Amino acid sequence: MADAENRVQWVYDAPDKDELQRRYDIWAEEYDGDLERDFDWHGPSLASDYLDKYVPHSALVMDAGAGTGLVGVELRKRGFDNVVGLDMSIGMLEEANKKGVYRKLDQMVLGERLNYPDGEFDAVISVGVLTLGHAPVHSLDEMIRITRRGGYIVFSLRPDVYLQYGFKEKQAELEASGKWKLAEVSPEVKLLPKGEPEVTHQVWVYRVK
Ligand SMILES: C[S@@+](CC[C@H](N)C(=O)[O-])C[C@H]1O[C@@H](n2cnc3c(N)ncnc32)[C@H](O)[C@@H]1O
Repeated sequence: MADAENRVQWVYDAPDKDELQRRYDIWAEEYDGDLERDFDWHGPSLASDYLDKYVPHSALVMDAGAGTGLVGVELRKRGFDNVVGLDMSIGMLEEANKKGVYRKLDQMVLGERLNYPDGEFDAVISVGVLTLGHAPVHSLDEMIRITRRGGYIVFSLRPDVYLQYGFKEKQAELEASGKWKLAEVSPEVKLLPKGEPEVTHQVWVYRVK
């Protein structure tokens, strides 16, 4: 495995999905320590604040790309106790399970069809997952399908990824075709201030129609 300070780049550099999964499996036990100590990752808390602004605590929430469960922990602190998580990495899901904040955890791959009925969830949250080499832009179609009408989708996205990798066009197309409506987008914020101080993210909030 790469040195602690290079592990974010190490997963970004994975050449394919299987290798990405393998790298997260290997990183899983060290992930929380690395992200908190070396990177000061506060994507989970910021995105959870946005979800909390729009979605009642009784909601059934899908944490898409739950990883080790940092989003689940933040949601529980805010009063959500009906959260399901999915991730491609069994190693990450095992760590998430130890947090004891998920009703259920499923191994699934964003970008493929998700094994949930239409409109199953009141909201979807996805933090640090819609990005290069991770969950592709068309994952948004399945996120919308599994969210009920009037529900919310909250996700973090780097502005450079938004502009250069098809998210801008896809998000606009989904709005133009009446699939969702933008509720709010955050200013650009540094969510990894210690580890990647040059990188900014935004949190997007959409209401499914
Ligand atoms: C940077 S971590 C973010 C984890 C967590 N949301 C957080 O904020 O700490 C990215 C996670 O997305 C998962 N992931 C990446 N691509 C995925 C895909 N296509 N489908 C499902 N999970 C994926 C990885 O296994 C990893 O757990």
